[in-house]
Amino acid sequence: MLGRLLERLVDAQTRWAKPVGDWLHGVTAAVFGRILPVRDFLAGTWLGHPLHALLTDVPIGALTVTIVLDVIGQPVAADVALLIGVLTMLASALAGYADYSTTDGRARVRATVHSAVMLVSLAIYVVSLAIRATGPTNRALPIALSIVAYVILAGGAFVGGDVVFVLGNMVDRHAWRSSGTKWQPLEVGEIAEGSLVKAKLGIQDLLLIRTGDTILALHNQCAHAGGPLNEGTLVDGCVECPWHGSRFEVATGRRRRGPTVYDQPSYEVRKIDAGGYEARRVS
Ligand code: FES
Repeated sequence: MLGRLLERLVDAQTRWAKPVGDWLHGVTAAVFGRILPVRDFLAGTWLGHPLHALLTDVPIGALTVTIVLDVIGQPVAADVALLIGVLTMLASALAGYADYSTTDGRARVRATVHSAVMLVSLAIYVVSLAIRATGPTNRALPIALSIVAYVILAGGAFVGGDVVFVLGNMVDRHAWRSSGTKWQPLEVGEIAEGSLVKAKLGIQDLLLIRTGDTILALHNQCAHAGGPLNEGTLVDGCVECPWHGSRFEVATGRRRRGPTVYDQPSYEVRKIDAGGYEARRVS
């Protein structure tokens, strides 16, 4: 009931969130596009896990503790917890904007709402922190501000959760794909040396690359957001996705460059006596 209400409220923001999101995406894409190693670090490519999702736990914990400490009358500890909360909110926002720079469609609109709500919450927290820093004898106002900011933060976290759990942003596109080892026939035409060839393996699309007598195969749908790898390019032993530039080693499917934080499923291919090929997943 409450979830539906919030969802309707978020969807009603599309009118402003779409143009603002397009603008903000342009800015973040331009900034992070110039510092790809930083973007990939903030995305979590090195970790194999989205860093933003991990970082958000820290401010939520610290800001929850702030309320508890305020309520039980521990002002110094509460202020320290709030400072930690504000600093880690900033770190989390930075990682979030790195993800945002490669977020498209409906997920971008919702991520814009998420970002706006979180910035409002952060601004109120900063005001609360500034008042606390003056050492007021009456702490009612900064405590009230912290509580208001916390409620807004919870709303923002709900919308952020939607971006991941409802719209599947930053979720591994192959999370539910079985890694069965059964050989299956491949539907494919000619596999020319050096070209990116799309093939069918049952209902899956594979990407085939011939190097001499060996045929290397990856799933064709990019693990980051589903881009078609057969429309990408070959760079330094990797296939580069045409949508946001993730690179995967063609021999293993391992990620070499973000924004993906996941590896690409890889397959082995063999020639069959009757003519044609068959394949099975190896990782
Ligand atoms: S879909 Fe984003 S890099 Fe491939």
